[in-house]
Amino acid sequence: MEPYANHPRMSRRSFLAAVMGGFSALVATVLGVPAVVFGLSPALKQTKKETWVQVGLPGDFKTGQPQMAEFTIFRKDGWLEESVSKSVWVVRTGDADFAVYNPRCTHLGCIVSWRPEETAFFSPCHGGVFALTGEVLAGPPPRSLDKLDWKVDGGKLVVNFKDFRLGVPEKVEV
Ligand code: FES
Repeated sequence: MEPYANHPRMSRRSFLAAVMGGFSALVATVLGVPAVVFGLSPALKQTKKETWVQVGLPGDFKTGQPQMAEFTIFRKDGWLEESVSKSVWVVRTGDADFAVYNPRCTHLGCIVSWRPEETAFFSPCHGGVFALTGEVLAGPPPRSLDKLDWKVDGGKLVVNFKDFRLGVPEKVEV
């Protein structure tokens, strides 16, 4: 009588098949987990929060004279938290009316400056020029300066700060 006859014996072929099966399962797991996470990532991403920032008192701004307001915002991306210096151009257009622009040139993002003697915003990079209304007057920018929402809250002028995709005609938040 053969010893261990009641024990199932694994043939060499079965053993190799089992090893290969285990290896395949391991590879599928290693490759599959990142794929699932990648697929879910839009759902896991934080929804964009609004970033309202105080830029001053309404009375700080003179009609028709753009003024840059600078501030710091805090951004959280996953585990990473950072503070970022930002700015906006504020234009008082009436007693209680304002136009607020993201200062990035819509071409490639250079920060535009205001030249009072020419009553226009100038990009320092490729000749982009914008009117007081934000419209493109010259150069390659594909759209007007990006206007931002604003409101007076508690006596302060506050702005909903956002950045937008550069180099495209559509205003798309990033
Ligand atoms: S970045 Fe302003 S014109 Fe190119």
